Amino acid sequence: MRHGDRTALVTGGARGIGLEIARQLADRGLRVLVGARGAAAAEEACRALGPAALPLALDVTSAASVREAVGSARELTGGIDVLVNNAGVSLDGPLRPPYFDEDVLRETLDTNLAGAWRVAEAVVPGMVEAGYGRVVNLTSSYGSLSLMDSGRHPAYRVSKTALNALTRMLAAELAGTGVLVNAADPGWTRSGMGGPSAPRGPAEGADTPVWLATLPEGDGTTGGLFADRRPLPW
Ligand SMILES: NC(=O)c1ccc[n+]([C@@H]2O[C@H](COP(=O)([O-])OP(=O)(O)OC[C@H]3O[C@@H](n4cnc5c(N)ncnc54)[C@H](OP(=O)(O)O)[C@@H]3O)[C@@H](O)[C@H]2O)c1
Repeated sequence: MRHGDRTALVTGGARGIGLEIARQLADRGLRVLVGARGAAAAEEACRALGPAALPLALDVTSAASVREAVGSARELTGGIDVLVNNAGVSLDGPLRPPYFDEDVLRETLDTNLAGAWRVAEAVVPGMVEAGYGRVVNLTSSYGSLSLMDSGRHPAYRVSKTALNALTRMLAAELAGTGVLVNAADPGWTRSGMGGPSAPRGPAEGADTPVWLATLPEGDGTTGGLFADRRPLPW
């Protein structure tokens, strides 16, 4: 199957790294569903990306929104072959544990961990049925236990460590089904979250997620964590 016969869903695809991932996937010939909370933002992004991009209203913190979005995606395109769980928030600053903000932790986990999990639960069964799927979870080196040398951004870090665990579990459960599940660290990238002084541009940040989203048929890469297309320690 050519990439052009494949459909990708990029959550949080209307801006930042997600928008660039959507652009690169469309450039490779995939049909791209641009998930966004705001309909206007999704439509504007799709106008810029061209006819391969379709807007999809999607709030990953709402089970009803995920259900509706995945239902509409099936009607629009027949199914989702590639899922990029890009939507994420970073709500806590440099304060370190034992500082604890329950609301920040809850909201961060609801988006960064449960959001990816909700969408995967809705999308993966169709991939298994089709015998093909690529799931890419946007994580961060901040979530790596091996590299955990400070407590800055504690809720964000914990959410990405948990997302890494979800990546490993999903990959193990889906072994042999044709569905590959990997985690990608884009590196510190200029965006709403990364800020203007980050050393990387969105194209560089999107490269590893797009590589994992388009792993060729027969490729066995699954259950891995990658940065710059190279393994990063968990
Ligand atoms: N930038 C970095 O340096 C960096 C480094 C490591 C990892 N990452 C990861 O890369 C991913 C993208 O980050 P970014 O830098 O592009 O961040 P960003 O510019 O802040 O964009 C975040 C995206 O997530 C979406 N989003 C947030 N909550 C959502 C929800 N409940 N439902 C649907 N979409 C939601 C936002 O949509 P709205 O427009 O609706 O707000 C936006 O599209 C994140 O997972 C982040 O953790 C980024």
